[in-house]
Amino acid sequence: DSVNLHEIHDTLVAVAFEAGRMILAANPSDISMGSKMNSADIVTETDRAVERMVSSRLRTAFPSYSFVGEETYVPGVTTVTNAPTFIVDPIDGTTNFVHGFPHACISLGFALDRLPAVGVVYNPFLDVLYTGIHGGGSYMQRNASLPQGQGQGEKLRLPLAGSEEDGKKVGPALGDLSTALVAVEWGSQREGENFEIKARVFRKLTARKEDGGSMVHSLRSLGSAALNLCATAAGQVDMYWEGGCYAWDVAAGWCILNEAGGRMASGNPGEWDPVLDSRIYLAVRGARSGQEEVVEEFWKVIGDGRM
Ligand code: IPD
Repeated sequence: DSVNLHEIHDTLVAVAFEAGRMILAANPSDISMGSKMNSADIVTETDRAVERMVSSRLRTAFPSYSFVGEETYVPGVTTVTNAPTFIVDPIDGTTNFVHGFPHACISLGFALDRLPAVGVVYNPFLDVLYTGIHGGGSYMQRNASLPQGQGQGEKLRLPLAGSEEDGKKVGPALGDLSTALVAVEWGSQREGENFEIKARVFRKLTARKEDGGSMVHSLRSLGSAALNLCATAAGQVDMYWEGGCYAWDVAAGWCILNEAGGRMASGNPGEWDPVLDSRIYLAVRGARSGQEEVVEEFWKVIGDGRM
């Protein structure tokens, strides 16, 4: 039977608000954390409680669809197949959540044929909602949970290269790497080469150029992959690079980015599997025309960071 993306979108938005209320109401004892891989890879009781709520709501509403969630993922067992699949991170930005830094979200993605088809990302601390539906555009809504906040919000439309009219809305078209604001993340893996490669990439991106500037305008590391993708979709940052994301970190934001006219120019194009070793993501805003050069320059600057 046919999949109704709008119905899925509306259900995910309702679930996101419910999750937001749980996250805001979490009491300090639920925030006390446990670690998974290492002390930088943390999970709280709230992450688990939100995922239980989300999976029960979605299994009730769409019993035949698959569900992949960060907290119930089993390495080597859980995979994203071609079936209609919800891909969920109950709290993306758990480190921020634990520290009370108000930059975390619930990330609710839906994939069809392993491609992002619906994305809902909600930051309850700032009450900002980002949504996207394949073929239906993407939107940013402030004061999203307030009665007057209901509605679609602001349509995200990234500028084409050199487009004046669109450029006024979300900043100038991306034309030069040295003026790009780039989001990067440390992530939570500390084993192997991964961490050292990141440190090298960050150093390369901030290296001084002959004209006294640096390779990029500046770096931002705000602690949520999903919100980084939304920030790229909204033109708040120009690019986002990370090595080590999982499907639930990117599924929802990827859809929102695509629908805004941005592009995922990842080092492993077309791959979509949470158990892949090489999980490099490079999101770029406004890459529809004329900006391939910036992406190429980025890969050149980071060198082995392409992995
Ligand atoms: C993490 C955050 C972080 C990113 C990691 C993610 P979590 O998600 O998005 O910014 O660097 O790769 O795993 O653990 O907070 O859900």
